[in-house]
Amino acid sequence: MATKLASKSEYLYKRARELIPGGVNSPVRYYSPYPLFVASAKGSRFRTVDGEEFLDYCMAYGALLDGHAYEEVVEAVQKALARGSLYGQPTEMEVELASLISSLVPSMEMVRLVNSGTEATMHSLRLARAFTGRQKILKFEGGYHGAHESVLVKAGSGASSLGIPNSEGIPNNVAKDTLVAKFNDEEMSDRIIKDHTHELAAVIIEPVMGNMGPILPRPGFLETLRKTTQENGVVLIFDEVITGFRVALGGAQEYFRIRPDMTVLGKILGGGLPIGAFGGRREIMEKLAPLGGVYQAGTYSGNPVSVAASLATLQSLKRRGGQLYPKLEKSGEEMRRAINDLIRSAKVAAQVNGLSSMFQIFLIVPEVGKIRRRNAEGDKRPHKVRESGSPSKRVVIHVPNLLHRPPRHRLRLGENIRYN
Ligand SMILES: Cc1ncc(COP(=O)(O)O)c(C=O)c1O
Repeated sequence: MATKLASKSEYLYKRARELIPGGVNSPVRYYSPYPLFVASAKGSRFRTVDGEEFLDYCMAYGALLDGHAYEEVVEAVQKALARGSLYGQPTEMEVELASLISSLVPSMEMVRLVNSGTEATMHSLRLARAFTGRQKILKFEGGYHGAHESVLVKAGSGASSLGIPNSEGIPNNVAKDTLVAKFNDEEMSDRIIKDHTHELAAVIIEPVMGNMGPILPRPGFLETLRKTTQENGVVLIFDEVITGFRVALGGAQEYFRIRPDMTVLGKILGGGLPIGAFGGRREIMEKLAPLGGVYQAGTYSGNPVSVAASLATLQSLKRRGGQLYPKLEKSGEEMRRAINDLIRSAKVAAQVNGLSSMFQIFLIVPEVGKIRRRNAEGDKRPHKVRESGSPSKRVVIHVPNLLHRPPRHRLRLGENIRYN
């Protein structure tokens, strides 16, 4: 006898998992018992194939600062598409975009466009290795820099800084060249950099730890990292895939006033279309082919549709930035305060942490700083939160690593919300 399915999402999930491993095209999208399948989205909300509306605190893992189907981006994409989606030749828009990125993030003296954050970190690390003639890299425990070999590495046991693979299929030989330090542990990163000076090519870091946070850098931590890398000829790479254009127009490097040697961008850069970028000091970037000997290429790199979306996004942010970023800071703070009040009144051992529109609820963490995340790790179900008075409106999403306050929504926290 056929079992009755609860929803079209469940039906689609059953079909999907026969065809797509785990039923999803990126593992973070899976949660039990099955993910919600989306039919459309606009602004702060999405609608599922079952016609239910959800308020979205995930915002495509931070890619959508202005929400779904933002008019300026939609218009730019439609126009670009009508002119052709891919030429295999350079375009004027690419020059405009590189110039805009460089003016907003001045440490990126030269820029190369790719298709994702993963590609961008991968190529920036190769470039750093070629520039320094060294092999090893240093990353921070809990930091995520995409799904490629050198960075899918976690800390080894005990006091060892040697990385061990985070995934099957990663050669030990690759993992051994990735060292791992603890975020906000100045002493540890300093010691590793000095101990490995002659073999360390790069330090790659999320300046605000987004993927196990957000966790803010302690005062002095990034400054010391900048100083030690400089003194030891190590390339400092800021992975601003999350923080770029989110915490400030010029990213975390503008917010904290640190100039890295190289920067990686993604997510918001594309306004919802696939694009990534890496860039930095001219002398490093000029090592890239065809100028230099570091090979990097991509059929879809700089494709006119993504570039149009990116240009529209950055032009819009530049125009609104003076008001937008203080507003994001204020509304994020308001949100965190409201949730903290709720936590306090419910006597739950938890706290909310964040910066700008980024936030996350940490459960039973004595101090969010030098920590391993003890979050709702295993619990990836959608947390349904209900606004009282409107029981049909369900809000908030499965618990990803990081939540983002959606734009232009008027959610009243406190009495108006309760967890199911
Ligand atoms: C900080 C950081 N770097 C790199 C990446 C990889 O970007 P993508 O998923 O576009 O490959 C991510 C993705 O979440 C990220 O958060």
